[in-house]
Amino acid sequence: MVVDSIMQILHVLFAGLWTGSVLFVVGAVLPAASTGSISAPAMTTITTRLAWLTRISAVVFVATGGHLAGTRYTSETLFMTGRGQIVVAMLVLWLVLTALVEIGCKRLGGSDAPSNVQQAVENTRPIWLAAGGVALLLLIDAGLLAAGVNW
Ligand code: HEM
Repeated sequence: MVVDSIMQILHVLFAGLWTGSVLFVVGAVLPAASTGSISAPAMTTITTRLAWLTRISAVVFVATGGHLAGTRYTSETLFMTGRGQIVVAMLVLWLVLTALVEIGCKRLGGSDAPSNVQQAVENTRPIWLAAGGVALLLLIDAGLLAAGVNW
């Protein structure tokens, strides 16, 4: 059905946009910021945008993921099959990553000087490393679904 296809396309589109953005911040923006080459206003823009992408994505994931789960699974197959459990893991990982990104963005934005940005990057390093790890786990989880795993 057309609605099912639109839901799946939106889901995968935001999956790529969001996890890609988180990993780009962890892998490229924060290393640059820790050497002092990202200004405080630039960091505020970057973190504000990532926080908003996270919020818009949340609406999209709940709507599209809820639709996919509702049309492809019953409450029994969701918890009793391997594939269902991979979907439940996806939901849990999404919740954890959303919380980490919200906290990380809040603590990184709002600095008023590059030296404060460097300090904020130091202080939030564990949060962002965890966020990068969870983003990778989400992509592996999605990869298992795409590979048709079912045990
Ligand atoms: C509210 C959170 C989420 C829910 C309820 C959810 C649920 C689902 C469901 C039910 C499916 C279809 C599974 C199947 O065909 O058997 C799916 C597929 C998928 N999800 Fe999520 N998801 C969520 C968040 C995410 C996030 C954060 C990502 C980021 C990587 C993601 C990436 C994907 C991808 C790429 C697929 C397609 C896999 C395929 O090709 O079959 N999802 N999701």
